[in-house]
Amino acid sequence: MMTSFQSGIIPEASSDALFITLNINSSKINKIKDTLAATPKLISDIQSQFPDASLHATIGISSQAWDKLDEKRPIHLSPFPHIKGKEVEIEPTDVDLVLHIRSSRRDATYELGNALYSAFSDSISLVEEVNCFKYLDNRDLTGFVDGTENPEGENRKSVALVGEEDPNFKDGSYFNLMRFVHDLSKWEKQDLKTQEDTYGRTKEDNEEYASSEKSVHAHTKRTSLKDENGRSMEILRQSIPYASLTEKGLMFASYSKTPTIFNLMLESMVKGDEHGNTDHLMKYTSAKTGQAFFVPAIEWLKSLSS
Ligand code: HEM
Repeated sequence: MMTSFQSGIIPEASSDALFITLNINSSKINKIKDTLAATPKLISDIQSQFPDASLHATIGISSQAWDKLDEKRPIHLSPFPHIKGKEVEIEPTDVDLVLHIRSSRRDATYELGNALYSAFSDSISLVEEVNCFKYLDNRDLTGFVDGTENPEGENRKSVALVGEEDPNFKDGSYFNLMRFVHDLSKWEKQDLKTQEDTYGRTKEDNEEYASSEKSVHAHTKRTSLKDENGRSMEILRQSIPYASLTEKGLMFASYSKTPTIFNLMLESMVKGDEHGNTDHLMKYTSAKTGQAFFVPAIEWLKSLSS
């Protein structure tokens, strides 16, 4: 069968995004399935109302929710990992469903988010909604450009989408979501050199440090992993900041053909390398949520219709 991937996975960074996490009302599983099956049409109807807005959405289903749906499972779908390092502990906060909506227009993002949320009506309960915005030239609120080393062109698809290794779930994607809250007052007290060393990149010009200059604690050092054949292990990041006057942070979002690469990166950050050298970016931010989902192909969603 020909399959098509959900529209929010691959496109370049958007200027507006909304993440909605939901739990399923277990007595309404048939309603959930019918609504999931109807989402592709609902999304394309609203996309056609905003043809200039690059409006995209992905719908992800967690491991625990997959059990409730009682359907055949993607091979690698599992809960978010629990990772404990010397300084930092990451606790899983898995929920049932995620909606990742993004566009170049806040009103379009709202319209689609609201329509999807309403369609589920009393079959779900809202866990969290986080509105995000592009900050300057795609910078995180720490002031550094985020997303530079993302895969490009056709490589975005080969990094993010499941292929023939799991034929029932081809064109799906493993999605990881973490809400980080930054300690910006601590971060802003650091001098420029300390900030740049923390990422292994320069701030203003966004240049990568020479490899010999990079600290073992630099974020880009801890997340640049190679497989046993010396090839780079990659994920497709769609992270974007959120902020209120009192809480500022990053919605870290990544898509991958396997959850293993993300899990190894997070371990490398939190547990460190073989000498226990950890990611010093984690001194200035803390993860409030950690969730894992699978974003199935559109045809799989439609097949849930009763
Ligand atoms: C690179 C920010 C969390 C994976 C970067 C860069 C920034 C950044 C500014 C450098 C530019 C770029 O290539 O995008 C952040 C912030 C985080 C965070 C503010 C949390 C508060 C994570 C997590 C992971 C991750 C949780 C994966 C588990 C990566 C990867 C790169 C990267 C793979 C590219 C490394 C390279 O090849 O140079 N991040 N990041 N990041 N980050 Fe993060």
